Amino acid sequence: MRPFLSREKEMKNTYFNLIDQTYYFPQEGFDLEDGSLFFNGVSLKYLIEEYGTPFKLTYLPRIGAQIKKAQNWFNKAIKANRYKGKYYYCYCTKCCHFQHVLTEALKHDVHIETSSSFDIDLILKLHQEGKINKTHLLIHNGYKTADYIRKILLLNELGFKNSITVLDSMAELDKYHSAKNPVKIGIRMATDLQPQSDYYTSRLGIRPSKILDFYKNKIADNPKVQLKMMHFFVDSGIKDNLYYWGEFQKAIKKFVELKKVCPEMKALNLGGGFPIRNNLGFEYDHKYIVNEIVQNIKEACDNEGVEEPDLFTEFGKYTVGESGAVIFEVLEHKKQNDTENWYIINNSLMNTIPDAWSILEKFILLPINHWDKEYQRVNIGGISCDHSDYYNSEELNQQVFLPKVDSKSKEPLYVGFFHTGAYQDSISGYGGIKHCLIPSPKHIVIDRDKTGNFVSKVFREQQEPEDMLRILGY
Ligand SMILES: Cc1ncc(COP(=O)(O)O)c(C=O)c1O
Repeated sequence: MRPFLSREKEMKNTYFNLIDQTYYFPQEGFDLEDGSLFFNGVSLKYLIEEYGTPFKLTYLPRIGAQIKKAQNWFNKAIKANRYKGKYYYCYCTKCCHFQHVLTEALKHDVHIETSSSFDIDLILKLHQEGKINKTHLLIHNGYKTADYIRKILLLNELGFKNSITVLDSMAELDKYHSAKNPVKIGIRMATDLQPQSDYYTSRLGIRPSKILDFYKNKIADNPKVQLKMMHFFVDSGIKDNLYYWGEFQKAIKKFVELKKVCPEMKALNLGGGFPIRNNLGFEYDHKYIVNEIVQNIKEACDNEGVEEPDLFTEFGKYTVGESGAVIFEVLEHKKQNDTENWYIINNSLMNTIPDAWSILEKFILLPINHWDKEYQRVNIGGISCDHSDYYNSEELNQQVFLPKVDSKSKEPLYVGFFHTGAYQDSISGYGGIKHCLIPSPKHIVIDRDKTGNFVSKVFREQQEPEDMLRILGY
């Protein structure tokens, strides 16, 4: 009997076997030690024991690492292609506004993109704290309400000399009529959306066919403004496909046409949309894409005899996405029919990773423990009453597998959604009213000290009942 038993053991399909056979594992940011998961070298089991679940975490060093990688790719491509312009990395604040995130990003020679009036208050605060100075590049995107315009003009008056406001429409130009000093402006070119979209052309920006006349008739001789930048943002993000490169080529063509009539325009802004890993099999050659971008812009400029622009990006998700995670405990296993198993976790997915529910965004999902158990297909359910509070498909699989853990197991199963650092807090309304009054989980911020050891602290405790009741007027 013994040999048979050990063969049976060898053939067991553990969760570890599944991951090991399907992906390269361990991989950047994820490793297993003593059977439990480490995220960027931090033991999640330790954090669970220290803080309890559920919690969300921000691993700050990842932010700097992402920025440095992108700066390197651009600077190397610039050198390799003998490209004459410079590269400027801007962080798009809307992605994650937390003070610790901006403080970390600003340590790495980044500039800032803003989206609304309150963002300018954030800029002024960062300036007050000495984290930005008046030479930082500030790119103002988005719809300009009266309040946003007022604050952009205030920056201008205060002497922020590299503040560039990007026109989202032709009508916006007139809003700068009261400027005391000339306002540096950009023009956002509206891109066409992907074929399966609900409409054809993005509402953001100015139609390409209108841009040249708009410049000649309204901007060229206007003492209130100076055109410095052309901006475009392809909604799919920067993808190596026909659609992206098609929109990219249209934008470069428009840039060259505009540059010929406006030689003072020195900058081309490619927007955001640099992808991050949302599954363990993610393959994307960032370095190759950056080189293609730089090479194509250089070729187009050389062919038309115009000076190559400085290149700007506004990477949000890329900067901060991979720094975040949310960790849950599986409270209960439910079998609702012969094939459907539910793992009920101790918070709501709609509240903590709202993009998974609203735009069917995928995140890396991994168990923290029990990797030596067999795996099974499961649905993950939140504890709100909402039937759409679930997660049951991954980017590559269209299904979710997790270790099969007996409900009576001594150690519960813990699971984590990873690379959740972008947009989830602002979309879910961090610290506000939550669906079914399920509280915002505790938030842990992790950094490394000078010796390389990680240091974790509670940035915010789990919401208390009074927090919500107060907002509700009780
Ligand atoms: C103008 C602009 N720039 C940058 C971004 C950031 O995009 P991402 O977070 O995908 O990098 C966005 C996102 O909506 C945007 O609208």
